[in-house]
Amino acid sequence: MNPSLRRHQRDWEDLGDLDPCWAILAYPERRFGRWDLDEFFRSGEAEIGRLTADMQRLGYPVKRERALDFGCGVGRLTRALAPHFRRCYGIDVSAPMIAAARKLNTAFPSCEFVLNGDPDLRMFSRDHFDLIYSVLVLQHLPTRAAIAAYVADFVRVLAPGGLLVCQIPSHIPLRRRLQPRRRLYGILRSFGVAPRVLYNRLGLFPMRMTSMPEPDVRTLLTAAGARVLEARADSMASTAIESRTYYVTKPSDAV
Ligand SMILES: C[S@@+](CC[C@H](N)C(=O)[O-])C[C@H]1O[C@@H](n2cnc3c(N)ncnc32)[C@H](O)[C@@H]1O
Repeated sequence: MNPSLRRHQRDWEDLGDLDPCWAILAYPERRFGRWDLDEFFRSGEAEIGRLTADMQRLGYPVKRERALDFGCGVGRLTRALAPHFRRCYGIDVSAPMIAAARKLNTAFPSCEFVLNGDPDLRMFSRDHFDLIYSVLVLQHLPTRAAIAAYVADFVRVLAPGGLLVCQIPSHIPLRRRLQPRRRLYGILRSFGVAPRVLYNRLGLFPMRMTSMPEPDVRTLLTAAGARVLEARADSMASTAIESRTYYVTKPSDAV
């Protein structure tokens, strides 16, 4: 694994140990373990409810066999996909997140949670998934190149007639790009300060934000053989970050 992805993995291992639900949905009032688990999982059901309405409207995916929740965290969305697909796979770079997902979702036998430290989806064959869903994940990757590698591979593993839905910020204002808390966290951690001290006492955490402009994402998807059905503006008004969710299919003649 390259050093930047390894550091990124270590950050998400820390977050998965420290405060997994808040690291997934970072509402200030839910910090330090204050998410109610039922409410947390209900938010996933509501989100997948909106997704199924979109699937109906768009007419994709044409089959509902296998779904992939990329960057599944503790399985908030994976389990909500379970009633709609025969098998659901949640994959994540963080071992504590995967361990929590397995523990919290034993009532969902059609869901499988897999750790993936690769910079792509080489563990899956091409045309494998009818749905690939990824929100609040690609935005945390260390570089645009890392985002591009996963997005191109999403298209490879997407079945013809499948649906890829992925969210990527299109613009992050400069003051949000500076990320002083993340930088200080990294420095102090490299000097041996324990993650729990950094998080609980100093209020530091290692979450980064990366963007990719919409034209670049469209070019990438088209070059990979996909067809963009829609790019919807997300509401992240309170953060001044501009974001898009892309709805994408793969024609059956894609190479
Ligand atoms: C903010 S959480 C969102 C979780 C989930 N998508 C949800 O909305 O409930 C981001 C998740 O992405 C995972 N992640 C970050 N980089 C990843 C990568 N390169 N591959 C797989 N998962 C990754 C993190 O470990 C974390 O669990």
